[in-house]
Amino acid sequence: MKAIRNHPILMLALACSIVTPASAQAPKKQPPPPRNAPAAQAGQPAPQTPPAPPPLKQPSQRPQPAQMPQTPPPNPRQPQFGDPLPGLTRRELQEFRDGRADFEAVETDTSGLGPIFNGSSCVICHSSPAVGGASVFNVTRFGRTENGVFNPLATLGGSLLQEREINSAVHEVVPPEANVVAQRNTTPLFGLGLIEAIPDAEILRNVRRQPVDGVLGKVSRVQDAATGRNMIGRFGWKAQIATLLTFSGEAYVNEMGITNRLFPVENAPNGNAQLLSQYDTVADPEDTLDAQGRGDIDRLAEFMQWLGAPPRLQLTPSAAAGRNVFQTTGCAICHVPVMRTGPNRSASLRNKEVWLFSDLLLHDMGALGDGIAQGTADVRDMKTAPLWGLRASAPYLHDGRAATVDEAIKAHDGEGKASKDRYLRLNSQQVQQLLDFLNSI
Ligand code: HEC
Ligand code: HEC
Repeated sequence: MKAIRNHPILMLALACSIVTPASAQAPKKQPPPPRNAPAAQAGQPAPQTPPAPPPLKQPSQRPQPAQMPQTPPPNPRQPQFGDPLPGLTRRELQEFRDGRADFEAVETDTSGLGPIFNGSSCVICHSSPAVGGASVFNVTRFGRTENGVFNPLATLGGSLLQEREINSAVHEVVPPEANVVAQRNTTPLFGLGLIEAIPDAEILRNVRRQPVDGVLGKVSRVQDAATGRNMIGRFGWKAQIATLLTFSGEAYVNEMGITNRLFPVENAPNGNAQLLSQYDTVADPEDTLDAQGRGDIDRLAEFMQWLGAPPRLQLTPSAAAGRNVFQTTGCAICHVPVMRTGPNRSASLRNKEVWLFSDLLLHDMGALGDGIAQGTADVRDMKTAPLWGLRASAPYLHDGRAATVDEAIKAHDGEGKASKDRYLRLNSQQVQQLLDFLNSI
């Protein structure tokens, strides 16, 4: 790979010239707003006392503690967003650093970028508040639904649109055949190695046989490209991918146009193979292997594997009260506070608690669904978004439509409606407590 590494000015120039902030697309999105619009001050009497929310019945197969489990106290060394996992070996730390350099490397048309693409480096979209984070950038998916059947229009370049190109002759557009167009906001990558290390069986335990609050949840089943195994998908808004290596290969070819050993075929602009062959001048796979048989996709996956979880903040009394509101409002039914990793080659990933606040299951979210089917995820199904690090990942929801956490909660529908309705009946002090809690995890 002849990418330009660690050249801040050039990277910035390229970033500015080829990535469109979501604010230039529809629906409009602003840069991250201030967190959680101020509501009533915690500790002050609520202005009015609406009726208390109905109590939540919480029977389930999974043993539920009577009280919300205590989040462990934050690490006294105050880890930051973007830090590696604690306790890595020297070799793992080196892999983290090498992988991060690849993650920041800017590709050009001579190194294989495009012909059509969405960004010239991973970090262009995954940048805030540290390398590996989220951003305001969206990508576009399209397709056609006819008689209730979704067609990704793969022969016309779907379902992912590549909206940049190395030459305007290959410009890709949403074809007129599409009657579904959806935006996808960039997700942060902190702690993904821990999520990858959660055994399938642990996720399966979250599936309910009896609905609670109208919530069942289902796993996303995928054929994983990297391992060739049938696995439970857990990455992406639709839980469409099971491993970090597969996501690396997929993002490399689909977001950047860099073919690799897992995904050796370029995307043709709106499916036009002739145009592609005219402008695709770099031999595939463009991600060439080193003497050990490893490519960029291996190093990218290692960076994400060793990237630490979002750091937690000490809970204020208001946030601690909000932890119980989170439970009684029914949020924890889907946003399951903690799961455990299983056996692992790395001590940093072995038998660890993962405070992700997600069941990693798909839920029918009614009107909040995005109209795109992917794998086992149907058009209204979305994966429960992990809530850790929420204070640094605005805007919210799959299309970034929500500027604040409050707006994101109010948009819940389908299986999330009962919980949303309970949220709407909280008094302003309880709302503030809940938001303070969500701002700390
Ligand atoms: C043009 C912007 C853009 C670029 C460039 C980009 N991503 Fe992403 N990334 C996204 C978006 C948008 C999503 C959410 C996609 C979805 O779920 O459909 C995402 C999701 C992910 C996820 C899943 C995260 C999760 O929590 O489930 C991983 C892993 C990831 N990207 C890795 C990468 C890597 C590695 C690269 C570079 C090879 C990269 N991305 C380049 C925008 C981008
Ligand atoms: C039925 C399961 C379910 C319940 C119950 C639920 N959520 Fe969610 N939540 C989801 C799903 C699925 C998403 C992703 C929605 C999307 O794709 O836009 C989500 C997204 C979110 C987001 C946006 C996260 C982001 O990164 O964009 C927040 C904040 C949130 N939920 C908070 C809550 C709170 C607080 C409650 C309780 C009042 C709650 N949720 C109840 C399933 C649920």
